[in-house]
Amino acid sequence: MKRVKAIYPGSFDPPTNGHLDLIQRGSKIFDELVVAILRNPEKDPLFTVSDRRKMLEELTAEFDNVSIDTFDGLTVDYALRVGAGAILRGIRAISDYEYELQMALMNRKLQPGLETVFMMPAEKYSYISSRLVREVAQLGGSIDCLVPPLAAQKLREKMDVAHKFENAEQAEQQISERKSRSRKKK
Ligand code: PNS
Repeated sequence: MKRVKAIYPGSFDPPTNGHLDLIQRGSKIFDELVVAILRNPEKDPLFTVSDRRKMLEELTAEFDNVSIDTFDGLTVDYALRVGAGAILRGIRAISDYEYELQMALMNRKLQPGLETVFMMPAEKYSYISSRLVREVAQLGGSIDCLVPPLAAQKLREKMDVAHKFENAEQAEQQISERKSRSRKKK
């Protein structure tokens, strides 16, 4: 029987429970699955590529046929480079469909031999996206049931650092304002 290797490309900033659900499903139907993190300097990610890679490596350690890699350039070129025959993507709701269809058809135009395979994560994860997780975390909401515990921990660490930085900036500004007021008094 033909062995099928697939790539699962994405930003994974951060990896969510929905991503992991899809990886688990993908690992059951493909012989090999490469989770491929896009290196895109134009996006302003919360986590570095290296942080995301480490998180995904730890989170998928239990799957023997899953590996983690990073790529830049076209997804189809990367897929060919690693010898993959399929691209795995998740569809959560109808709202994903238009964008995913456009991407799948463009990828097919670029590389007709590559198939895009869509899978649906469990419905309990259908509302989760990395963008919303980042927003909720940044505004102090609970993200515990949205991402795996490791990612939740890393998000909390990021938010602590950001708050400390904000507080330090505010303190610096207050000091400089006080100094300028006292200079004006003199
Ligand atoms: O997790 P995301 O951000 O929805 O993933 C989008 C991703 C990385 C799959 C898409 O942006 C992509 O494939 N980028 C690589 C550049 C490319 O191939 N562009 C043409 C796609 S039709």
